[in-house]
Amino acid sequence: MAISTDLTHEVVGDAAPPKNGTEAMKHPLDPLSAAELEAAVRILAREEHLGDGVRIVSINLTEPAKILVEKYRPGNLFERKALAVLVDRAKRASYEVLLDLADNRLASVKQLPAGVQPSIMLDEFSECEAAVRRSPLFQAQLSKRGLENAQLVMVEPWSAGMYGTELPEDGGLRRMRALCFVRSEEKDNGYARPLDSMVIVVDLYKMEVIRIEDYEIAPLPPESGNWAREYIPNMRKDLKPVDIVQPEGPSFTVDGNEVQWQKWKFRVGFTSREGLVLHTIGYNDDGVERPILYRASICEMVVPYGDPGEQYYRKNAFDIGEYGLGMLANSLALGCDCLGVIYYFDFPLVDSRGKITPLKNVVCLHEEDFGILWKHTDWRTGQSEVRRSRRLSVSFIATVGNYEYGFYWYFYQDGSIQCEIKLTGIMNTTALAPGKTSAYGVEVAPQLNAPFHQHIFAARLVTSVDGPNNSVYEVNSVGVPTGASNPHGNAFVAEETLLATEKEAQRRVNTDTARFWRVVNPSKKNRLGRPVGYRLVPGENCPPFVQPDAKIMRRAGFTSNHVWVTPYDPQQRFAAGEYPNQHPTGDGLPFWTQANRKVDDTEVSLWYVFAHNHVPRPEDWPVMPVGMLGFQFRPDGFFERSPAMDVPPPPAKTCCH
Ligand code: NI
Repeated sequence: MAISTDLTHEVVGDAAPPKNGTEAMKHPLDPLSAAELEAAVRILAREEHLGDGVRIVSINLTEPAKILVEKYRPGNLFERKALAVLVDRAKRASYEVLLDLADNRLASVKQLPAGVQPSIMLDEFSECEAAVRRSPLFQAQLSKRGLENAQLVMVEPWSAGMYGTELPEDGGLRRMRALCFVRSEEKDNGYARPLDSMVIVVDLYKMEVIRIEDYEIAPLPPESGNWAREYIPNMRKDLKPVDIVQPEGPSFTVDGNEVQWQKWKFRVGFTSREGLVLHTIGYNDDGVERPILYRASICEMVVPYGDPGEQYYRKNAFDIGEYGLGMLANSLALGCDCLGVIYYFDFPLVDSRGKITPLKNVVCLHEEDFGILWKHTDWRTGQSEVRRSRRLSVSFIATVGNYEYGFYWYFYQDGSIQCEIKLTGIMNTTALAPGKTSAYGVEVAPQLNAPFHQHIFAARLVTSVDGPNNSVYEVNSVGVPTGASNPHGNAFVAEETLLATEKEAQRRVNTDTARFWRVVNPSKKNRLGRPVGYRLVPGENCPPFVQPDAKIMRRAGFTSNHVWVTPYDPQQRFAAGEYPNQHPTGDGLPFWTQANRKVDDTEVSLWYVFAHNHVPRPEDWPVMPVGMLGFQFRPDGFFERSPAMDVPPPPAKTCCH
């Protein structure tokens, strides 16, 4: 058997794989441990699935069936299964290998259909860049442009996608398209000088340049755009320290991956694709554990760029499905990324050669003071009460090439959950000839154009509002026409409409009707006679601005609606399907929902798609100050009254009362 040497080197260590995954792990939903990942790599090697040309795209836990998780009690034995996705470069084939870690055996192997390309591996970025650098074609193109120092040319591989405009020579290949930027010295910000007169198409099977597409040469923009501290000579000097002090420690407890805070309880998970995943979110309501969400993650995202230029129209990165946010997660730093008393979760990841790396401090858990929770003053009696809001923040940050994405989930004392995404990092740029502007972007520095683009995210919420079977209603507020029932013209109503089938449940936000959605448990009524529910409250959002027949919409069709509801299916887990990379026709929500299944009073996945429309500003350059968007999931008839009344007032010494 041909095992690559680095693999043998990395997996043969002191740590013996666990005989049974349950020994090392505490709960069926715990992500794979380092020992389990090592065991998985060993099984793959033993069963001769790791030859020289074989690379590991990912190995993740195969989550047990929901019913098994719900029946699980501490001490029970449970299954540990893992799905390994492999690419065999020599055979130009990809595989899904199911591993049974508890039995230390390979359970099944499935070759993926021809043309399916699993997501891009981290190693492929550097290997692709190296392949470009050693290509004589690349050297020739640089000479043509008078660029003598190739080391200062930054090569940035992008997913190639599939647009129906590929050349015959591209057929059947695993590809990337590399863009180039020029640094003026080693640590210069390359994005200040885009060399967008060429795009390099690379065959990732052979790691060879296929061709270099040659476009009109625009001169490099004149200014640098540096951001590192050594380039900022005059920092402001009037900032006094802020310390977050919790002398008695935080109010949360962590047991393995289970978190308890105030009345909340949930599990923290992590996958190489989604990064942070939250499981079994529930609320202790006067001694009763009430489930709310079975699973919550940001499962897909796409960033379509709006410039129709030949070298630009393929810029549409699916940062989750094509790259994997877990693989790109940062190790967070106390005092910088996170302030206060922090609990960090570490999760191990496996690289394409089977080397297991601990990802330290990848998920950050901490409490924050969040202004006031509620307040009232009675001017007649002089009574005044105010409560401070404390929220629990669970987050991670991924760096995807030029951009940073922070993913934050907040839990509040009033029973609300919020998802917030923070966008920062460096905008992708193109060059402008002197005196020219672009209709499809904004000049953010002299001769430097930042194209219009959107960041579109899909959240998948497997709801379990007070039990497994849920229904989703849309609520629209509308004015009643002036007439017999509304003689004074002031009447308006909130109309509830059941979304009973997958087709009825394809919806968009509408500020004209203050639209929101209410997820209810039809078999649980509150004391006022209505089914208990949670409300999905949209935040910033907009439609996609690409045309419905745009080539990218074959793969990004999930962006055509803001809300989708599907019957819960553990196999239907990513909005653009399992393998959006180079998918010729697309997959995911628009395809699954053609079955028009019933989604009323059943186990459902609620998909919320939300977009930040980025019309760049000069102030977004060189590093964009954080922009935020997201949504809330707030109780709506779930509790009998405000669940926040029992939050005590601030200690007397800190409060003027
Ligand atoms: Ni942006």
